[in-house]
Amino acid sequence: MTPHADPEAGAAVKAADRAHVFHSWSAQGLIDPLAVAGAEGSYFWDYDGNRYLDFTSGLVYTNIGYQHPKVVAAIQEQAGKLATFAPAFAVESRSKAARLIAERTPGDLDKIFFTNGGAEAVENAVRMARLHTGRPKVLSAYRSYHGGTATAINITGDPRRWASDNGTAGVVHFWAPFLYRSPFYSTTESEECARALTHLEDTIAFEGPQTIAAIVLETIPGTAGIMTPPPGYLAGVREICDRYGIVFVLDEVMAGFGRTGTWFAAEHFDVVPDLITFAKGVNSGYVPLGGVAISAEIAATFDKRPYPGGLTYSGHPLACAAAVATIQVMEDEKVVENAAMIGETVLGPGLRELAERHPSVGEVRGLGVFWALDLVRDRETHEPLVPYNATGEANAAMAAFGAACKKNGLWPFVNMNRTHAVPACNVSEAEAKEGLAALDAALAVADEWVA
Ligand SMILES: Cc1ncc(COP(=O)(O)O)c(C=O)c1O
Repeated sequence: MTPHADPEAGAAVKAADRAHVFHSWSAQGLIDPLAVAGAEGSYFWDYDGNRYLDFTSGLVYTNIGYQHPKVVAAIQEQAGKLATFAPAFAVESRSKAARLIAERTPGDLDKIFFTNGGAEAVENAVRMARLHTGRPKVLSAYRSYHGGTATAINITGDPRRWASDNGTAGVVHFWAPFLYRSPFYSTTESEECARALTHLEDTIAFEGPQTIAAIVLETIPGTAGIMTPPPGYLAGVREICDRYGIVFVLDEVMAGFGRTGTWFAAEHFDVVPDLITFAKGVNSGYVPLGGVAISAEIAATFDKRPYPGGLTYSGHPLACAAAVATIQVMEDEKVVENAAMIGETVLGPGLRELAERHPSVGEVRGLGVFWALDLVRDRETHEPLVPYNATGEANAAMAAFGAACKKNGLWPFVNMNRTHAVPACNVSEAEAKEGLAALDAALAVADEWVA
């Protein structure tokens, strides 16, 4: 579809937004949201006739792109048949979505508790772990994001937590492996893995294993920087959890449903956690949906004892119909296979080639359609292009980089000193190459800040 300019309509949308919409994570008076007129596949456009290649997939969730006709039709059909129904009943689209998800989760994670999004999934996973173990504490990693609600934001290991953290949530943070910025001064992946596991063991020993209900980790941390854990790390965490009776929760809200080139990222590491949280890609966010996939053992805890948690819209029929259609589309159109192929043959080699030519690129990390460029002032010291959590003038280099991407028709994902290449899982080879070309031009701007 070609964008059709209608600046007057755009101005009205913008005016009402500025008057009445209170935006997430923002100083309301300092933001200038783009008014979006439409979207299709990997592109969206504004009311001035500008079209952008979306290298963010929304917030890393439109895994099948925008307006997939089969999913739109499935939502319309479900709306005509049964637009909503309360969660205590067995409903066709809910049952079917749960079966399709359970068939794709690893191991015996065969029961699905539905939520409206990722944060609620994390809230409920932690509640299940606490009730299952009878223990209060949760361990989670620095450099992580788990959602904006009470428990999820406290589990989060980035500055978004600070304002909500009064130190009483029962969450203890530890360092997960990240060789490029190693907290353990490691020089190899195997050293980083061994030291990170020792550090986790030490943290558990000093917190008291009998006080710890769960370890919550993103399988591959997303917003915090797409750090693929070294071989053996997640298997090591699994073994530690088993030894101490701790519930192992893998948060796949961002990494799940095709993003890494497999249905769930856990498949890359051959680990089966006790709980998986999911959302986003489960139905490409066409209707809000998330959930927890639950192991047989934890599900059995609530066989005779009621689970003390629920949501009016748990397993909403429209959202579940969208999930059924999305999963079907992903199978029929080999979307997961496409994500793996694009990572191996286009994005991976293409981003590494950019790194060779642009001194601002410190490291390229990722797989599938889940890539990060770690931008630096100095390749030797790894000094980030902007300081951690920089704002205003201190963030000028990243702001200029982002503006250059947009000028070149690319909508970039920018977080701190990184840009993430996270297009839809069904992005075409030509679209991925178009994105690489726009990044190439924008990196020339970032290079100007190299020391
Ligand atoms: C790994 C992870 N967990 C949880 C969440 C929270 O999901 P939601 O925004 O749907 O509540 C996010 C959102 O980006 C995420 O990336």
